[in-house]
Amino acid sequence: SQNIFILGIESSCDDTAAAVIHNGNILSNVIASQKIHEAYGGVVPELASRAHQQNIVPVVHQALEKANIKKEQLHAIAFTRGPGLMGSLLVGTSFAKSLAYGLNIPLIDVNHMQGHILAHFINEEGYNKPPFPFLAMTISGGHTQIVRVDDYFDMTVIGETIDDAVGEAFDKSGKILGLGYPAGPEIDKRAKLGNPKAFKFTKPKVDGLNFSFSGLKTAILYFIQKETKANPNFIEENLNDICASIQYTIIGILVDKLKQASKETGIKHIAIGGGVSANSGIRQALKDGEKKFGWTTYVPKFEFTTDNAAMIAIVGYLKYFEKDFAENNVAASARLKI
Ligand code: KG4
Ligand code: ZN
Repeated sequence: SQNIFILGIESSCDDTAAAVIHNGNILSNVIASQKIHEAYGGVVPELASRAHQQNIVPVVHQALEKANIKKEQLHAIAFTRGPGLMGSLLVGTSFAKSLAYGLNIPLIDVNHMQGHILAHFINEEGYNKPPFPFLAMTISGGHTQIVRVDDYFDMTVIGETIDDAVGEAFDKSGKILGLGYPAGPEIDKRAKLGNPKAFKFTKPKVDGLNFSFSGLKTAILYFIQKETKANPNFIEENLNDICASIQYTIIGILVDKLKQASKETGIKHIAIGGGVSANSGIRQALKDGEKKFGWTTYVPKFEFTTDNAAMIAIVGYLKYFEKDFAENNVAASARLKI
């Protein structure tokens, strides 16, 4: 009997995205990535919000067109309320409010981090959804968290970074090596050709299930400075080995904490999300965990794992049935917690 269409809108960082979901199935998933930041080696908040402002209407229009529906057929508008960059969030929030008001349909606020986790519940042929409770590790350029998920909206952050996100560790290391931004994919590519044990970087000691990546970045910087002083061609001559060693260290940090989290909670269903889950090293490590520790692991399709609006739409869909709607004066929140 249900026949629900929901539009999801995501604008928390540097991707303007819109998606239409119909009863848990994604009909369209449109994303406009902002190339402008590459030249700056990182996201420039002011430029990001301006680009969102330009992209938001065309992106939503395309999402509706690809889904082959008219906006009048929508039942609700779901949007990312936070966390993220305030100037970026404001664009999606204001647009979503106006559209919901104009169409006289409910507005649904979505936590971006819950979106990354609930992306696992998008209907996908051949994809097994994780059973509750499971552990979700969200790893991207903006976040690094381990979350215990007991139900759709019963989540507890049990570990998170105390400084840089893991994607930043990849990107900042890449910057030291002279690689372009974002450097994660290139480090991954080169790591496959190098020796992961060529150079040793010490892992940070952080209590409990929390992470720290800023020390690693400094260690890599000092190491490179020292080696290039002795041999100006050190980077060129050893780039694949350096990348492999950095990646090996980072994956080691992630997997150590996952192992600890699984042991402490007794939960063996492990899901990952966020841009860094594209990394071949982490994917292999999860596969190894299935054999070594009896884990069952869940890695969604790439387009649902980087920042996207399909994950916002699925949360909107789940909230729609609870009538969990936002007030029309809801405010974007840069530091929104799960
Ligand atoms: O989820 P995402 O697209 O955006 C947010 O940061 O929210 O993640 C982007 C991050 C960047 O830091 C990028 O370097 C990293 O994901 N990344 C990777 C790989 N692909 C993307 N890091 C390591 N290996 C990869 N294959
Ligand atoms: Zn994200």
